[in-house]
Amino acid sequence: MKTPIILGIESSCDDTSAAVIQGKKILSNVVSTQKIHQNYGGVVPELASRAHLQNIIPVVHQAIQLANINKKAIDAISFTRGPGLLGSLLVGTSFAKSLSMSLNVPLIEVNHMQGHIFAHFIEDESKENISFPFLCLTVSGGHTQIVQVNDYFNMEVLGETLDDAAGEAFDKIGKILGLEYPAGPTIDKLSQNGDKDKFKFPLPKLEGIKFSFSGIKTSVLYFIQKELQKNPDFIKENLEDICASVQKTILSSLLDKLKLAIEITGIKNVAIAGGVSANSELRREIKKLELEKNCKTFIPKFEYTTDNAAMIAVVGSIKYEHNKFSDLKTIATARYKM
Ligand code: KG4
Ligand code: ZN
Repeated sequence: MKTPIILGIESSCDDTSAAVIQGKKILSNVVSTQKIHQNYGGVVPELASRAHLQNIIPVVHQAIQLANINKKAIDAISFTRGPGLLGSLLVGTSFAKSLSMSLNVPLIEVNHMQGHIFAHFIEDESKENISFPFLCLTVSGGHTQIVQVNDYFNMEVLGETLDDAAGEAFDKIGKILGLEYPAGPTIDKLSQNGDKDKFKFPLPKLEGIKFSFSGIKTSVLYFIQKELQKNPDFIKENLEDICASVQKTILSSLLDKLKLAIEITGIKNVAIAGGVSANSELRREIKKLELEKNCKTFIPKFEYTTDNAAMIAVVGSIKYEHNKFSDLKTIATARYKM
């Protein structure tokens, strides 16, 4: 039997993406990041859905071309049903439905957060395969959670953020510092030459596996306002140190709670996923758990950290194997639980 070919479509936020997978091997993964939001300090939902409408046909077309397949070879279409921005999700969902009808192939809905975790199942010869059960710190612009993954379709959220997500904290603090959206990658870069112990920002002490990042945003805001009154060039003169100190604070919370989850569950396979897992310091720090906690750690390939359709395609492929299909009544769902 031929290994099934799945087309994956992702449009939950500000990246329009399409990917083709055969089994668990990625044949193409095209991501078109919408630049229009840079000027606004965050994603403008109305503009995002319009840009998806413009991008989706060329992006899907390019993914099929790069995979070097005929569209008639596609066995199923997987798409992000949610969570995400409703207008953005509607574009991908409607497009996936229409294409599945016209090609007469089944439709497979995918939860975006499950997609981030499943990026670890994409075939990669340079990496050891991850095995169940594992813990996954899933950190993006909309979510921060620690998930216990027992099997493909058996996972439990052990804890999450009470307010802002870690990526959201990077982006909002970046905005205070005058950085373009998304600020996460810029803060990561600037931190590399900064002194992470120069400034101290408090984090709330929370019991158990819980996160909170709205306080650090406010404390950075008040701190910056106070310093700017004394020295109008404060940000310019201290940008790298501020970034490194902010990054250290956010990462220390993520790492502390991940260590707690390892202690509570006794699970020794530990993964990270989502946009913030692109962070170079987080990627370095996670590796240290191997010695410190006697764990095996799994870091996604850089291109599968921020939003991409390869991760949606691999969920599609695994659901296809398990005969988990959706029907044309499936609707885009902004708050879609895993
Ligand atoms: O997973 P993702 O692409 O979209 C959502 O599902 O939200 O994550 C985007 C988030 C943004 O907040 C962005 O600033 C953050 O991931 N991010 C980073 C880095 N690269 C992306 N944060 C810190 N360091 C990075 N290198
Ligand atoms: Zn995401």
